Amino acid sequence: MKYSVVIPAAGSGTRMKANQNKLFLDLMGKPLIAHTLKLFEEDAWCSKIILAGKPDEFQIFNEIIKKEGFCKIEALVAGGSDRQESVKKGLDSLKGDEIVLIHDGARPLVDIKLVHQLVMETEKTGAAILAVPLKDTIKKAYNKKIVETIDREALWAAQTPQGFKLSTIKAAHEKAVLSGVKGTDDASLLEALGQAVTIVHGDYRNIKVTTPEDLVVAEHFITGRET
Ligand code: C5P
Repeated sequence: MKYSVVIPAAGSGTRMKANQNKLFLDLMGKPLIAHTLKLFEEDAWCSKIILAGKPDEFQIFNEIIKKEGFCKIEALVAGGSDRQESVKKGLDSLKGDEIVLIHDGARPLVDIKLVHQLVMETEKTGAAILAVPLKDTIKKAYNKKIVETIDREALWAAQTPQGFKLSTIKAAHEKAVLSGVKGTDDASLLEALGQAVTIVHGDYRNIKVTTPEDLVVAEHFITGRET
């Protein structure tokens, strides 16, 4: 089975409180984004990688690609002002109706076995995501005043990769632009159109490196994976 992957990497990482793109921060001797790219570079099912970055960081991305010897990166495209726009620009550079995965550059820990389960589910249903059940009790609050405790029974935390037939997700992104729909992931754009998306049970280790302590956690999990 084959897939392409679009990797949005054009964020600034404000919540990381670093004065650079968090994807360039060191994680065990190499930039965080190099770990994410390596997973797909080494996966035989992955035929090509589309990376969306900020144009003024292209040089840094190109240096990383050269240094690591990555050869599946078919295009480095200019990202947009938010994640959704960056993903759309990546998708625009793909043609045909292959399966496309969309995976955050900030998730360097996804297990390739789960990626393969996701690809198989996407092949079957047309749209699927990795997600994990919520563990915490969830409160809804305004100005720190709780208004509701939400029944977590049916709640899942969405992760990436998220897998789609290319034509389906391209159409959803185009419609989202026309209708002004914004989502923090790609599945939500299909949901907004009433289209079905399936969950594949993911792994709690597949964290999105967002705040400084996540780097420590990522390092711990990578060490565990390599030993
Ligand atoms: O900020 P956050 O980690 O939630 O962003 C998720 C992913 O989207 C990151 O890999 C980030 O680089 C990417 N992104 C992007 N373009 C933006 C904002 C975020 O590609 N304008």
